[in-house]
Amino acid sequence: FPLHNFRRLALLMHELRVVKTDLEIELLKEAVDITAKGFRRTLRFLKPGVTEYEVEAEWAREFIKRRGKFAYTPIVAAGKNNCVLHYLQNDQVCKKGQLLLLDVGSSYANYNADMTRTIPVSGTYSPEQRAIYELVYRAQEAGIRATRAGNPFFASNSEASRVLAEGLAELGLISSAADTGGLRRFFMHGTSHYLGLDVHDVGSYGPLRPGEVVTIEPGIYIPVAADIDPKWWNIGVRIEDDVLVTDGDPVILSGGAPRQIDDVEALMRTIS
Ligand code: GLY
Ligand code: MN
Ligand code: MN
Repeated sequence: FPLHNFRRLALLMHELRVVKTDLEIELLKEAVDITAKGFRRTLRFLKPGVTEYEVEAEWAREFIKRRGKFAYTPIVAAGKNNCVLHYLQNDQVCKKGQLLLLDVGSSYANYNADMTRTIPVSGTYSPEQRAIYELVYRAQEAGIRATRAGNPFFASNSEASRVLAEGLAELGLISSAADTGGLRRFFMHGTSHYLGLDVHDVGSYGPLRPGEVVTIEPGIYIPVAADIDPKWWNIGVRIEDDVLVTDGDPVILSGGAPRQIDDVEALMRTIS
């Protein structure tokens, strides 16, 4: 077709997908809402002795009831499994004293939620689990605060990384807040990606604009290693939320799933 001028369509389509319309935001909210409901069901269900796949089935029930589907293969990882970033077997028993990391999201009408919660199998965080959890929480809060229109896409990653490095240094897990190699050992992924028609959605990673939806997902994963105090071994914590960029403050779409220690423990107490 010599008279036609051809250009790649993908780049134009990608651009259209990044800033969501009101209808797209409604669909994303429904996906996230189904996901949060599934999490609350899990809080009710979890106790020592249940298996990871039984927990997965609880989410499936909630999703299917509301016309949702798993947006991706869920990660239901108890104990040392929560340090395996892409753990997908979900076939182990959840034991007292362990943390359970749940990276589970529903899709609804092709729009995807992507959420992670890390909860104590027995309903109470140990002091070490609490220390790491609170640090990841603080990092996530810093990341969310940076999720504002006009900020660089990776501002949340920088902010969360700074908080994590300071906290790990205070706990004696790395030599100082400037120890970037040490930080990478325990936090080996980024905090954010776009969310929408794909879980890892397309986009150009430019400055944030109102209507974009991104994840904020810091984590710390402490392996068994001779140079680490055993009291920290096998503690893996990630907290992941879906955040809408606006003209003003960021909106946490997945706020229906509690993520503060007191709220999680209180809910596990009242409903078990
Ligand atoms: N569930 C995939 C991710 O968190 O990016
Ligand atoms: Mn994610
Ligand atoms: Mn995830």
